[in-house]
Amino acid sequence: MNGECVTTTTGSAEETIALGRRVGRALRSGDVVALVGRLGSGKTWFAKGLALGLGVPDGVVVTSPSFALVNEYEGRVPFYHMDAYRLESKDAFVAAGLEEFFYEDGVVAMEWADLFPEMLPEHRIEVRLEVVDETTRRIFLTGRSNRAAEIIRALSMEEEGRSKEWR
Ligand SMILES: Nc1ncnc2c1ncn2[C@@H]1O[C@H](COP(=O)(O)OP(=O)(O)OP(=O)(O)O)[C@@H](O)[C@H]1O
Ligand SMILES: [Mg+2]
Repeated sequence: MNGECVTTTTGSAEETIALGRRVGRALRSGDVVALVGRLGSGKTWFAKGLALGLGVPDGVVVTSPSFALVNEYEGRVPFYHMDAYRLESKDAFVAAGLEEFFYEDGVVAMEWADLFPEMLPEHRIEVRLEVVDETTRRIFLTGRSNRAAEIIRALSMEEEGRSKEWR
């Protein structure tokens, strides 16, 4: 993807949740987060962070593997956490009614979003997680739309501030 990009590294699941939380705080109704990365890369932990950043209470966030296509939460806006992994085709995606959530009042995060890129709105923010080693993940945020660029720039400034603090 062209456009804005920010890259960061996390050293634990907790750090990935914390990053997700900072992103979640910046989100508003209508935003769509596409989560991309192989099995066990941390998509679900990142999504948990998004939920927390959107004001969903910690105790209600589901992180165990489930067969639900969509988990719905009430935060400061509704939050829809989806997983496209088990969908076999575009038709199945449509039949499951997932598209409709993009036009609902709320924020959508979709794991395995790269399986159906053409089904996702252009204004999505893409979060790609790469496994570096057992506890390290390299995390890339990209997006093409103005809205995605706005979120990424804000986060990028925040991350810069954080790395200065660490020096
Ligand atoms: N830096 C890290 N960030 C996130 N998870 C990490 C990190 N280091 C280790 N882990 C571990 O990696 C695993 C990530 O699991 P998670 O369920 O979030 O992956 P996923 O990408 O959602 O996988 P799936 O495709 O099966 O849904 C967990 O066991 C977690 O403890
Ligand atoms: Mg997952």
